[in-house]
Amino acid sequence: MKIDLLSPASFAAGQPHDQYRWLREHEPVRWHDEPGGRGFWAVTRHADVWTVDRDFQAFSSEPTIMITDPLEGVGQGFGPYKMMLMMDPPEHTAFRKLIRQEFTLPAARLREDRIKALAKQIVDAVIEKGECDFVAEVAGEMPSFVIAELMGLPLADGRELYKLTEAIHTAPEALPPGAGAAAVAKMFEYGSGVIAEKRARPGDDLASRLLACEVDGRKLEDAEFLLFFLLLVDAGGDTTRNLLSGGLLALMDHPGQFAWLMADLPERLGPAREELLRWTSPVIYMRRTARHDVELAGQQIREGDKVVMYFGAANRDPAAFERPEALDLAREPNPHIAFGAGAHNCLGQHIARIEIDAMLSEVLTRMGDFELPSPPEWLPSNFISGPKTMPLKFKAR
Ligand code: HEM
Repeated sequence: MKIDLLSPASFAAGQPHDQYRWLREHEPVRWHDEPGGRGFWAVTRHADVWTVDRDFQAFSSEPTIMITDPLEGVGQGFGPYKMMLMMDPPEHTAFRKLIRQEFTLPAARLREDRIKALAKQIVDAVIEKGECDFVAEVAGEMPSFVIAELMGLPLADGRELYKLTEAIHTAPEALPPGAGAAAVAKMFEYGSGVIAEKRARPGDDLASRLLACEVDGRKLEDAEFLLFFLLLVDAGGDTTRNLLSGGLLALMDHPGQFAWLMADLPERLGPAREELLRWTSPVIYMRRTARHDVELAGQQIREGDKVVMYFGAANRDPAAFERPEALDLAREPNPHIAFGAGAHNCLGQHIARIEIDAMLSEVLTRMGDFELPSPPEWLPSNFISGPKTMPLKFKAR
């Protein structure tokens, strides 16, 4: 079996489940070469991904969670500053605490009515047309509006920011030279405007609260705020979008399961949403770096080695799931790790679940007879998986 988990071509039609299957069965912790880089260990079994993600003493999130190392001397952020996603406890714990309250289940529930209203507004905008690009016009709208609301920004700005996110997550070779870096620069430029605006006129929003809060008895530096801003915009955008588009595709591919869901949508949506998370696993990987020599599933990992967790592979591991290759919307239990498993587990997961439920309820009750006039085009990325465009025909129900 040819194994290539780097080439965007491997992800051009969804995640490479045939490669994942082979790896889990034959080399669950396998050395993977990296053109222009040091190479890495690819970890594909559920139990091993779980171990790596939870053991931050052995597997560090520094200097980065991307496979490519930061350029020498440039670092991953601004000078000494890092994004929370690339910190280890106890530093990570202190930073996560700053925004944790905004993302608890009760805090997320307070947003539920507003999120449902946004879902209605999004479907209203396409329902008469009978066709749309489901990714841009439906699925992508929700997370970009929600992040704008969280941050106290105009909804239309959320849409622009989310376009930048997509460029940041696309493989550099699939973009014009420098486009990824330009997108990050634009994001920071916009974030600097937010700093000025929220300092002058603080509001009841996360951006204003972040600018007012303290870590180690001091206010956040602008660079620290910008890195938080980038993380929040980045983390919740195309992940949620891809779950929605990929989830609808999965339903269309499994008409029996789709019919089962529709027979009692309100009751069945919860387990169905979890199964769609397992099935699509929008975050392909997170990288860690070994802090010391350590053994993992019989492989000797050396200090400094890169160790990459493949969530989509773990989520189809027969050791963790019965009939993992079957979409089973009633699956129970469903120990998927699409949101990660350790100290960095997805902070936005409660909001994400509310967004997903609101959108799926709205789409599936008001739209039907779905047809794909042409095949969806997938995001050329080895980091985030999902359709980039998905022309869809439908009828209003
Ligand atoms: C279907 C949607 C989503 C998926 C699949 C997803 C998945 C993930 C994953 C896999 C991680 C890393 C976990 C780890 O390293 O163990 C993560 C982290 C994170 N996610 Fe999500 N996410 C989603 C939506 C969101 C949303 C809507 C937000 C915010 C509004 C969000 C905010 C974050 C943040 C802030 C982190 C970093 C947490 C930390 O470093 O402590 N995510 N997410």
